[in-house]
Amino acid sequence: MGLVIIRQDNKIEMWKEALKRSASDIPVYSYLEDHPRERIRMALVWKHPSGAIKGYPNLECIASSGAGVDFLLEDKDLPTNIPITRVVDEYLAKDMSEHVIALIFSHLKNLNQYKVDQFNKIWSPLDYQRIEDLTIGIMGLGALGKVLAEDLLRFDFKVQGWSSSRKNLSGIKTFAGDKEKTAFLNTTQILVCLLPLTKETFGILNKDLFSQLPKDAHIINVARGGHLVDKDLLEMLDNGHLSGASLDVYHQEPLSTEHPFWEHSKVHMTPHYASVSDTNSVVPQILENYRRLENGQKLLNLVSKTKGY
Ligand code: GLV
Repeated sequence: MGLVIIRQDNKIEMWKEALKRSASDIPVYSYLEDHPRERIRMALVWKHPSGAIKGYPNLECIASSGAGVDFLLEDKDLPTNIPITRVVDEYLAKDMSEHVIALIFSHLKNLNQYKVDQFNKIWSPLDYQRIEDLTIGIMGLGALGKVLAEDLLRFDFKVQGWSSSRKNLSGIKTFAGDKEKTAFLNTTQILVCLLPLTKETFGILNKDLFSQLPKDAHIINVARGGHLVDKDLLEMLDNGHLSGASLDVYHQEPLSTEHPFWEHSKVHMTPHYASVSDTNSVVPQILENYRRLENGQKLLNLVSKTKGY
């Protein structure tokens, strides 16, 4: 039996080598090469071409090689009744947290504006904010949101979190469900979206939500482009309600060069790189699940298909 890697970027060889280094006994194939389909037990997948996971009669597990599984659940041709797993990894969480903290500090100290000013040779000192001035609100308190919240506490930020079901985290004020969303938003100056993308959260970052934030709030979306209603963000930036947005994810990736985000002075873009699965760190949990399949044991990091994460 063996494992097939299905992804459309140039990382297939890198994953293949990392898997082979740790488990030379497991046959690992790229979906682009000739491979014995009936011998594939696990598919390790990232943003696959739709339908590419079909035609593996003995497939026992579809493993996302990232934290998200939205791209799998969106595939109408995804084989049903096959367990899906996702990555839960220390470095994925740490990298995300470091990225968001960098964005928060650059917002506090106006670093994005100074870059623009430097480009235009403008000398214009601005008021800056302090850690104690701000409450950071995190939407999504899963594996990534929790680590970010704890890291921010170490800097003495006031941190609060919102999630669909109640989470208890020491030192962090938590809000749950639709009923408590307004109270959470009304007191959040920097909003970080780390929610999974599901039917319930698609388009959650919209005008109605933005209008419940205090004036001059800043948005950080490092989850999925599908969370954001782009035109609502632009409207709320242009009418002065929001002070800026830092985006790592988009509806379309790479983002079309025609999109207004590119040239908007209040939109700060990064190319979906906030936190990228590190093969060395992630391969052991993929192999652990492969061994579990061999031994008929319960898989780690199983996704609930009804919840969507
Ligand atoms: C990255 O976006 C991931 O889901 O791991």
